[in-house]
Amino acid sequence: MKYKVAVVGGAGHIGLPLSCYIQNAGIDSIIIDTNKENIDKINSSTPPFLEHDLETKLKTALSNGLTAVTEIDKIKDCELVFVTLGTSSNQEITDNFHQLIETVILNMKEGSTLILRSTVTIQTINKITKMMNFDSKKINLFYCPERIAEGKAFLELEKIPQIVGSKDSELSEIIKDFFERLKIRTISVNYEEAVFIKLFSNTYRYAQFSTINYFDNIASSNSLDFKKLLSIASDTYPRLEKVPDSGLVGGPCLIKDSQTFLNSYGDPKGLISNYFNINMDYITNTIDKCNNYFDHKKIVQLGLTFKPESDDLRDSQAIVLNNYLVNEGFEVKTFDPFINNEEELESVLSFSENIVIATRHKIFDSYDLESKKVVVVGDK
Ligand SMILES: NC(=O)c1ccc[n+]([C@@H]2O[C@H](COP(=O)([O-])OP(=O)(O)OC[C@H]3O[C@@H](n4cnc5c(N)ncnc54)[C@H](O)[C@@H]3O)[C@@H](O)[C@H]2O)c1
Repeated sequence: MKYKVAVVGGAGHIGLPLSCYIQNAGIDSIIIDTNKENIDKINSSTPPFLEHDLETKLKTALSNGLTAVTEIDKIKDCELVFVTLGTSSNQEITDNFHQLIETVILNMKEGSTLILRSTVTIQTINKITKMMNFDSKKINLFYCPERIAEGKAFLELEKIPQIVGSKDSELSEIIKDFFERLKIRTISVNYEEAVFIKLFSNTYRYAQFSTINYFDNIASSNSLDFKKLLSIASDTYPRLEKVPDSGLVGGPCLIKDSQTFLNSYGDPKGLISNYFNINMDYITNTIDKCNNYFDHKKIVQLGLTFKPESDDLRDSQAIVLNNYLVNEGFEVKTFDPFINNEEELESVLSFSENIVIATRHKIFDSYDLESKKVVVVGDK
């Protein structure tokens, strides 16, 4: 079967690795994205953001025929259309997403297949199935949520089985053929099940990080050093092998997906709402630590991105921490090796002996901080 794939939102964190992966598996693909600057970067083989191995994979994909454009009408030539736009629990962004899908359907050819890759709710899926032109154009709709971790796209795309949500768990020939050619195992479920699996997975991950922060908060209020205690407790102790470190919990997915889970399914015991509160407490505890440990109000904050070895600032709690520090009267200079900095590292470090490591990039281990007073917020 010969067909062509479009990826709408294909210049983004999810869309770009996916587009390269599909093209490099021998299936012709086209990226469609309104971000002209990133489309230009992609066409000149420059990854617009950090992602392991993206530069090599992008070069190969372009030489294999991957194209990137801004015009949505290019999807009319495609049998399979992925949508990888950013989504949110925010109503305005959800409304924009629905509008975009209407435009996508308007431009799709009859009998073609629409694959939602963005994280969506069942309400969104139901709305799409009732959109104008959906029935008359005989559009096949699948929800294939992305489950990779940012930075690990090319390691995880072929490893993690693909959840395929459809109306009646029956997969069309084109979807079967597509994932078989990508050598990705599929697990077929209905729309509702796919939505729950995706939202539950991220909410559970958020819960795990928040739970450990809960214990860190309690230890702090008893003047105990939780990081030291956790390291001792988990030393060669199988039951605590996979416990994450305490630290800031943010990024483009975990907070918003937990909020979306809560909005969709409720929170009968108030557990999820409390996770949000716990993480805010974790930030205020960090401010208390700074107030108690440092002799004056000048601080250098190392790390601003939402997790180590990433250049992604979206929903970064290191930025939230920075705002809180400033509001608390601290004078803060920041440095993050993964983003453009106003000042050189040496000049920033000479600003104060008080250091807060907010996002623990590996390279910080090579900095000479012997003579400094350091507060490590977390290992994430
Ligand atoms: N980032 C992750 O690690 C991750 C993991 C799993 C799932 N997800 C989900 O995947 C989805 C995409 O996330 P992302 O991180 O790739 O977002 P992103 O912001 O990096 O990418 C979205 C892309 O859509 C483009 N876009 C916006 N409006 C458009 C329009 N009208 N037409 C065409 N393109 C348009 C943007 O320019 C951008 O390039 C979200 O629903 C997210 O929850 C993300």
